[in-house]
Amino acid sequence: MLKIGVVGCGLQAATIAGYMGVYNDDYEVSVVVDIDFENARSRMAQKQVRIAEDCRFYHTVEEFLAAPSQLNGIIIGTYCADHTEMACKLEVLGVPLYVEKPVAITVEQLRKLYKTFKNSKTPVEVSLPMRLCPLTQRAKVIIDSGLLGPVHQVIGYEDTPGEIYFSTWFRDAEKTGGMFMQKAVHDIDYMFYLAGGNPVQVCGMRTKHYYVGDKPYDLTCDQCPDAMTCPEGPCAAFRERGHWNSVPEALEKLSYTVTPDGLIRKKRYCVYSKDIAIEDMGECIIKMDTGAHVAHSQNFIAQNHACRRGARFCGSLGTLEIDFNNSELDFYSHRNRTQEHYVVDQGKLSHYGGDRELVADFLRVMKTGERPRTDLIYGNGIMSTMACLCARDSADSCKYIDIEL
Ligand SMILES: NC(=O)c1ccc[n+]([C@@H]2O[C@H](COP(=O)([O-])OP(=O)(O)OC[C@H]3O[C@@H](n4cnc5c(N)ncnc54)[C@H](O)[C@@H]3O)[C@@H](O)[C@H]2O)c1
Repeated sequence: MLKIGVVGCGLQAATIAGYMGVYNDDYEVSVVVDIDFENARSRMAQKQVRIAEDCRFYHTVEEFLAAPSQLNGIIIGTYCADHTEMACKLEVLGVPLYVEKPVAITVEQLRKLYKTFKNSKTPVEVSLPMRLCPLTQRAKVIIDSGLLGPVHQVIGYEDTPGEIYFSTWFRDAEKTGGMFMQKAVHDIDYMFYLAGGNPVQVCGMRTKHYYVGDKPYDLTCDQCPDAMTCPEGPCAAFRERGHWNSVPEALEKLSYTVTPDGLIRKKRYCVYSKDIAIEDMGECIIKMDTGAHVAHSQNFIAQNHACRRGARFCGSLGTLEIDFNNSELDFYSHRNRTQEHYVVDQGKLSHYGGDRELVADFLRVMKTGERPRTDLIYGNGIMSTMACLCARDSADSCKYIDIEL
């Protein structure tokens, strides 16, 4: 029986905890640390997590550490700003940790994390599923076969709706560190993995262009006098975008997130609130020690068929394009007019099937102590966060930043 602890048992950590049984392993969550027990219980019920009859609930890691029970692994899914602190405090236990991304939201935090775990026996699996998903793994086989020759240039992109990031706690820059850490970190990680080499320098840019307004920070649609004419309001959602079955339903959904058991009803705030400090578009260009350039752009403005996520890898001999939203790979030879098209089955579980692999690794780590593929230290799980932190610093200082741990 695998005994699991969860620190910050919200939607994401409960999802991962619920996956602990997908390979038919016997497990139960026997410790939960969360500032909000009701939320933790509700999320675990939603995700059908197996909870020990004598599961112990604590409000802080310190309370748990005062009399720690034997655990095989601990999942950390608090707000992003607390990941480093939680992981560092739990290091002494020597129990494998599964840490949600981003592992840190400041350079100081990341250096502390590196120092704590550099020579530690405690494995830290970083939640970077895109590196492990079938599409990326297929691209890796193609690139490693030499079909592209050396990779010189990578251009990645993610254009995706931003409503969730501007209406929930993700809008709080102090909790997330902004969108480089929140989103680009996934893409930069798989791009480094496929491009090979290490990042040395970055320049970045970030701005908020679309989600700009002067509404109060804590305004909800159902309290807003402009809701019916707002382009992000319930009338537009129902009539123009085809979401939900009526304006009243859209008004409820845009104003509150309700857990399936109906017990938790959290406010969703106005996306045009003033004082939202996260960006809705950002770009970075990273120089690798191989000489390759890795560039990434993201925006949280695009909707519907304008959405895309993927990258092009240009080598001496050919170009490979990954399209995550359609599960496709395209290879274009530079030597002749050959084109090869691949459709890759993502299989089950979230993040393009990548969570299936993350979970397999975490189960293996707990049973054997072997390091996971996205290990913080041995699996380069740290580098995409470092690059994203430096990209943010570059964007804010308008300077090129050296990427150094
Ligand atoms: N890997 C991915 O692709 C992915 C996807 C979604 C979210 N995430 C990450 O997962 C984390 C959680 O996101 P979520 O959507 O589950 O949020 P959430 O709000 O559902 O969960 C956060 C939980 O942490 C608890 N919490 C907050 N501060 C705490 C503290 N100091 N001590 C103990 N518990 C605390 C909250 O009460 C809540 O239960 C974020 O860092 C997010 O970036 C990762």
